[in-house]
This record gives sequence, C-alpha cells and structure tokens, in this order.
Amino acid sequence: MLQRIYDWVDERLDITPLWRDIADHEVPEHVNPAHHFSAFVYCFGGLTFFIVVIQILSGMFLTMYYVPDIVNAWESVYYLQNEVAFGVIVRGMHHWGASLVIVMMFLHTLRVFFQGAYKKPRELNWVVGVLIFFVMLGLGFTGYLLPWDMKALFATKVGLQIAVTIPVIGEMAKTLLAGGEIIGAQTLARFFAIHVFFLPGALLALMGAHFIMIRKQGISGPL
Ligand code: HEM
Repeated sequence: MLQRIYDWVDERLDITPLWRDIADHEVPEHVNPAHHFSAFVYCFGGLTFFIVVIQILSGMFLTMYYVPDIVNAWESVYYLQNEVAFGVIVRGMHHWGASLVIVMMFLHTLRVFFQGAYKKPRELNWVVGVLIFFVMLGLGFTGYLLPWDMKALFATKVGLQIAVTIPVIGEMAKTLLAGGEIIGAQTLARFFAIHVFFLPGALLALMGAHFIMIRKQGISGPL
C-alpha cells in the first residue's frame, strides 16, 4: 500500500533522487568512529542538531499551554507541570535540553577550532557558526524569563544590566529588549515573541546555510 502511494507520487514528482542524494552520500573514512575511535568528535555537530530538533518539538507542545501574559504565565507553567499528562516530561525535556544543546554546541565548536576546520575554504561557515552561537545564547536568555518566577525576573534583570554596558548602543538595546523602563508586561510579550518566532526563524535559516555549505565543501580532511 505504502509502496503504491510512493510510486504514485514518484511518477509525478520524481522524488527518489532527492532523498537518494542524502542516503547514498559517502562519508570519508576518517570521520567514521568504527575505523578510528577518535572520530567520535565529528558527531558533536549532528548531536547538537538532534537536540535542536527536540527543543523545537517540545517547545511547540509547550506553547499549547503557555499563556504569555504576566497574570497567567506562571500559573500556566504550573498547570502544565503538575496537571497536564506528560507535561512534566515535555517541560523537563525543554529545560534540560536547553542546557545540553549549549554544551554540545560548545564541544562541536571546540572540535572545529582545534582541528583548524574553520580555515580556507570554510571561513564563511565559521562566521555562520558564530551567528548561530549568538542566536542560541539569545534563545537561552529569552526563554529563561518565560516561567515568570523570581529566578526568571532577577536573571533577566542581570542580563539587561549587562546589555546596558555595551558601548554606545547599550541603553538603547536594553530599552528595545525590555520594551520600557521596567521588566513588565511588554518585556514578557517581547521575550516570548523573540523566543518563539524571531530567533527560531533565524536559527532555521542559519542552520540551512550551515548544512548547504557542509554538503558543498565536504567535511574537512584528516589532520
Ligand atoms: C545549532 C548549532 C550547530 C549545529 C546543529 C551544527 C551542525 C554541524 C554539523 C552536523 C557539521 C558536520 C560536521 C560535524 O558534525 O562536526 C558541522 C560542521 C561545521 N560547523 Fe557546525 N553546527 C552548529 C554550530 C556551529 C558553531 C557555533 C560553529 C563555529 C563557531 C560551527 C562551525 C562549523 C564548521 C566550520 C564546520 C565545518 C567543519 C568541517 O568541515 O570539518 N558550527 N556543523
């Protein structure tokens, strides 16, 4: 049955070459841990991507319960955590994944750095990586405020005070982020929008560019 549906679509849209291009792509021996155990370091980028996928999926489910206004935010998280079936698991995945993805990305960056994989012709992909790095930190910062508890409030206060120290544009950056003088309703709305729309959108685009460049240039050679 499935085969017949596949054949029907394939006959009309010729989809086989699309996935064959990925499935048949040969990976060089020096990145295969079965040949050289130390090649496990090449997995860090893929593992980072795996956690990003988990973050996106768990985050989508969180937004089905989360209410982004200062009266209901905390309680909506409490409700999700304590009343909703599997809520504690989905929130737990998003919470721990947020830390793990930073650790993984850092390991991946160290691998690329110490192997000199950022050198010509991969400089542009390193620059894209740096942008991804900032986007990921931004996701962590904006997500932290959303539960709207004391820890969230004071962590954001510290974060905004750090933003003020940016030369010249510091004060403007803070006001732009906070949406006013204090951390309040506007701040929460802004952080929510940045956390679920702006930064994930930017991340998907940047990861797309990252992967296209990796495919085009191939993985860097053995040391
Ligand atoms: C969400 C974050 C990221 C994901 C999902 C990701 C994913 C990947 C994957 C799957 C590869 C293939 C090789 C490997 O896995 O080691 C790769 C290669 C690469 N990444 Fe990332 N990456 C991320 C962040 C970064 C960052 C922060 C940097 C640097 C600042 C970076 C720079 C590079 C470079 C230069 C390569 C090419 C390395 C080579 O050819 O050996 N990436 N990335």
